[in-house]
Amino acid sequence: MRIAMIGSGYVGLVSGACLADFGHEVVCIDKDPEKIAALNEGRMPIYEPGLDALVAENVRQKRLAFSTDLKPAVAGAQAVFIAVGTPSRRGDGFADLSYVYAAARAIAEALTGYAVVVTKSTVPVGTGDEVERILREARPDLDVGVASNPEFLREGAAIGDFKRPDRIVIGAEDARAAAVMQEVYRPLYLNQAPILFTGRRTAELTKYAANAFLATKITFINEIADLCEQVGANVQEVARGIGLDNRIGSKFLHAGPGYGGSCFPKDTLALVKTAQDYGTPVRIVETVVAVNDQRKRAMARKVIAACGGSVRGKRVALLGLTFKPNTDDMRDAPSLSIIAGLQDAGARIVAYDPEGMEQARPLLQGVDYAEDAYACAEGADALVIVTEWNAFRALDLARLKAMMAAPVLVDLRNVYAPDEARRHGLRHVGVGALASRD
Ligand SMILES: NC(=O)c1ccc[n+]([C@@H]2O[C@H](COP(=O)([O-])OP(=O)(O)OC[C@H]3O[C@@H](n4cnc5c(N)ncnc54)[C@H](O)[C@@H]3O)[C@@H](O)[C@H]2O)c1
Repeated sequence: MRIAMIGSGYVGLVSGACLADFGHEVVCIDKDPEKIAALNEGRMPIYEPGLDALVAENVRQKRLAFSTDLKPAVAGAQAVFIAVGTPSRRGDGFADLSYVYAAARAIAEALTGYAVVVTKSTVPVGTGDEVERILREARPDLDVGVASNPEFLREGAAIGDFKRPDRIVIGAEDARAAAVMQEVYRPLYLNQAPILFTGRRTAELTKYAANAFLATKITFINEIADLCEQVGANVQEVARGIGLDNRIGSKFLHAGPGYGGSCFPKDTLALVKTAQDYGTPVRIVETVVAVNDQRKRAMARKVIAACGGSVRGKRVALLGLTFKPNTDDMRDAPSLSIIAGLQDAGARIVAYDPEGMEQARPLLQGVDYAEDAYACAEGADALVIVTEWNAFRALDLARLKAMMAAPVLVDLRNVYAPDEARRHGLRHVGVGALASRD
């Protein structure tokens, strides 16, 4: 099949490369000429494990190409995916759909024969209807289908998630569009990946419901972690104790500094707004949003408390800046709020992240960057693990203790066992358990 992918960010690029790998002929379009130039030179604009090799192989096989020129890619395509950003709109938090609608207008002008226009971007209920209206208004003559195919991949594991998904959700209003989508995903269908065909609005809402549920699960265990700290219980054991129940499941029960990233914050907010607009508020999700917002800042207070109540003039070292490991994505990362809180309290910040420092620099002021974890810890009054990169899982704790000004390890991801840290002379302050004593 010939496929055009409009938007070559995390989702568009990974989806385009994987669809090409299935054997389709894919052109990934982006309006950012630098991004396309980089891709055409074989440089990846994002860090995603395995992506460079996948892209190189499919470019070599001539199944994958990159361009800023939408028209020739869309003309003659059987499926045109919209994978542009849908960030939170400034002011009201609703999803900003201007990029989606601009893409739809450009697609309308470029289509030549029957095609299915597919929203892969996360879009509020009813966006597919509006995309269809835009297409029909611009080109009343057009023979076109409009489908919703939300994406569930996770950054850091995106290729595996796309190629071996838990499920594929396709929202289509007619059999012809559904048949084209079935053809797109046929290689996965043969692998028995469950494909769910639903109405378009159902597919759109399914994506938000999934993200809101996961955000709720994280926020739930974070609140239980706070309670554990007060009552002398251990949240990791509680999480295991409940997670072994199949009805609950063990995933997304790791207490930490609050969720961040490019999806959960904006998608929970957009769902809250949609539900309010329809007069059926989702109170649980409203609370999740509020609790999570407060939590990120509270993590700065946790560090301050671990430093004896003040960080003024102290050197605080942060390990990890990205919102999770194996990505360079800094969007809504908890580190941003934590650093702001610590700087407001007078701390000097030094940070290290294996992949995220380039993306972090424009977002942070007054931060020194270190070359590795040990250089970061040198002379620090506290070492804070913010993101659980593998590189931080087996640090030489005795070496850290010897080089730090004060032996305080604030482990916001519970990477280290408190006893182990204590054995090496570090005071361990984790999440959801009593802090180890000096
Ligand atoms: N990042 C994720 O992990 C993830 C997972 C699932 C779903 N999503 C959803 O997928 C969508 C895209 O997310 P992303 O993280 O890939 O965003 P992104 O910001 O990384 O990429 C969007 C790209 O679209 C391009 N673009 C915007 N308007 C365009 C136009 N008219 N023509 C051509 N290119 C255009 C931008 O230049 C940018 O490169 C969002 O709706 C997001 O919620 C993201």
